[in-house]
Amino acid sequence: MESKILIGKAYGKAQDVLAFHVQDLQPLASGMARIKVMAAGINPIDARRMSGEFKFSGLPQTFGTEFAGIITEIDKNNPDWKVGDEVLGSGSSFTHATVIDVPITNLVKKPKSLSWEVAGSIAGVGQTAATIINELGNIKSLLIHGGSGGLGTITIQIARDKGIEALATASEKNQEYLKNLGATAVTYGPGLIERIKAIHPAPFDASVDMIGSEEATQTSLALVKPGGFMGATSGKPLSSAKIKAMWVKKHVNILTPVVDGVASGKYHWEIDTVYPFDQAVDAYTKVLNGHSRGKNVFLF
Ligand SMILES: NC(=O)c1ccc[n+]([C@@H]2O[C@H](COP(=O)([O-])OP(=O)(O)OC[C@H]3O[C@@H](n4cnc5c(N)ncnc54)[C@H](OP(=O)(O)O)[C@@H]3O)[C@@H](O)[C@H]2O)c1
Repeated sequence: MESKILIGKAYGKAQDVLAFHVQDLQPLASGMARIKVMAAGINPIDARRMSGEFKFSGLPQTFGTEFAGIITEIDKNNPDWKVGDEVLGSGSSFTHATVIDVPITNLVKKPKSLSWEVAGSIAGVGQTAATIINELGNIKSLLIHGGSGGLGTITIQIARDKGIEALATASEKNQEYLKNLGATAVTYGPGLIERIKAIHPAPFDASVDMIGSEEATQTSLALVKPGGFMGATSGKPLSSAKIKAMWVKKHVNILTPVVDGVASGKYHWEIDTVYPFDQAVDAYTKVLNGHSRGKNVFLF
């Protein structure tokens, strides 16, 4: 069986480095499921690896950390899944392809009520948001820098669900959006600390920086209580060692409650743009730009 795979030939701009490569797949290994991909979310990490900001692997490189699709072949020594089942889940930098092989342990049942594009874009930021809220533990208030992207959108809602008061930043055009998610909304930019203090004078129990800017660093240092946790997800170098890097933990037990919450309507899932797979250059350019509202996703 063939798979059409998105590759990065070199580091650089999408139009210069992205290409498609058609490859014959090896026989399916034990413990694996072969998936016809129906949708796959595009995350900043894909675009930042493409540009060369992150160099986790050699070249050419493949992309994509999440998928939704249909099982076309599966290790028969499993009691839970069969050919034709609709599933979603995580994959490590290879899901931007028409057919993928995934460990069976990564599979989560796709709820019928979810569209392919929603199902295929949950795993990455869904598990990251759940990890963040789990690791922050018993807090009452949370400052989120960059709340209207894919990660902020679901983090705000899980926080709200846990009774945590969230204040989030975004540009002017996303203030109403943040409020509808359940956050107190503030515009980022000069004067941020004073604007937040004016509406939230009490120190925050914790903060999460989803941008990696100096403004976010200084604002967290000024507004989080002494000893309060300050985290950052961008992986960018920051000027203060007090801001601790946070990384997603991937497990079906972390992902499933988020999927269930989206399927039940408890969590709103925002799709910014749905791209045909052939429009990968446009999709990666958009994601690298860093001003998406919710998720961007390939629909195959
Ligand atoms: N560590 C991990 O395991 C992990 C996992 C997932 C994601 N991440 C990282 O987490 C970060 C966020 O991910 P994402 O998927 O949410 O990204 P995203 O969807 O691209 O988020 C973009 C959002 O950031 C806002 N923004 C842009 N510039 C800003 C600024 N200067 N101040 C405040 N907000 C600003 C934008 O709002 P406006 O359009 O209103 O400007 C937009 O809504 C990325 O760096 C990603 O790589 C890390």
